[in-house]
Amino acid sequence: MKKVLLTGASGRIGSRLGEQLLNDGFHVVGLDLAPARTRHPNYAHVQSQIRRKDELVKSFEGADFVLHLGSMMSWNPKDNAAMFEANVNATQLILEAASAVGVKRFVFASSGEVYPEVKAKTLPVTEDHSLNPTSFYGLTKKIGEELVQFYQTQGLETVILRFPHTQAASEILDPESFFSGPRFFLDSKIRQMEQFGNTQVAEYLKSLRGDGSPKMILQCGEDQKPYMMHIADIRDILSGVALAMQHPNAANEIFNLEPDDVVRFEEALPKMAEIAGLPLVKAYMPGPAVHYRTSNAKIKSALGYQPSHTFSAMIEENRKNSEQTAL
Ligand SMILES: NC(=O)c1ccc[n+]([C@@H]2O[C@H](COP(=O)([O-])OP(=O)(O)OC[C@H]3O[C@@H](n4cnc5c(N)ncnc54)[C@H](O)[C@@H]3O)[C@@H](O)[C@H]2O)c1
Repeated sequence: MKKVLLTGASGRIGSRLGEQLLNDGFHVVGLDLAPARTRHPNYAHVQSQIRRKDELVKSFEGADFVLHLGSMMSWNPKDNAAMFEANVNATQLILEAASAVGVKRFVFASSGEVYPEVKAKTLPVTEDHSLNPTSFYGLTKKIGEELVQFYQTQGLETVILRFPHTQAASEILDPESFFSGPRFFLDSKIRQMEQFGNTQVAEYLKSLRGDGSPKMILQCGEDQKPYMMHIADIRDILSGVALAMQHPNAANEIFNLEPDDVVRFEEALPKMAEIAGLPLVKAYMPGPAVHYRTSNAKIKSALGYQPSHTFSAMIEENRKNSEQTAL
């Protein structure tokens, strides 16, 4: 039985990836600072903050593959030091341990924020676009990629996957969910702006509250353009990671792991608000609109990747669920 060392195994994507690997017959060792979310005879969990290589090597022994998804995601400047520790220092230790035990392949979960897509020079964004991250999170992922590429030159076979924004269908209408909350719901967006210390934007958003009842937001730039971006379904990310782990053509490559479809907020939000039964208001955010497309041509032609869940299908899944609940 092949062994996979999976970091970030208790995370949103990692926990689902672990389940998929177990279903596919792998032995999985999950590494995460959080407790295990998976119970299975072929699953072992190591709860660790990834601070020492000698502690790691024991868990890595016999591993065929390392999937490094463990990471801290924050856009709050207060978290920068902790994020450097989790995304850069820990990545270096994971790479050391993977090299020390001689794994067959190391897959790194990077992000479209390395470009960054929101300030792309050319669209659609391809893998050879220059890397000039504007967020500290994007910077930690860029340094992570550089570390991965260095260890590749030392003989470690690696794959870098630049993930898009990723959601489970069940998250997109959940105002408390980490990404969809502030992306689509007014009160969650206000809370996020307050946490970032962005009081001016928080005050503007509060002015949209009207009668104070919960609302959804259609985010636009100050140029009035509604947002447009990719939002992948976690199920497609899992199939992309599986290809990156085993496909011979993936060795030592970098891929955008994008969906085919792009989410046009002016089309998606009215449908989402209808299902949620909430009013929708336009929110004009500072700066130009988030408005990009990223190419998945490389991973499709090299690995035969074919995403099969569109954002519209995720919305329709929610519609069906809400209709069933209403019955
Ligand atoms: N979800 C997205 O939209 C998205 C987009 C681009 C890239 N990514 C990348 O994909 C990966 C998985 O994302 P996710 O949405 O599942 O994130 P998540 O936050 O749900 O999971 C990350 C996991 O890593 C663990 N972790 C953090 N620091 C650690 C440390 N020092 N030691 C051990 N464990 C640690 C956390 O406890 C958490 O369980 C991450 O690398 C993320 O940067 C995600």
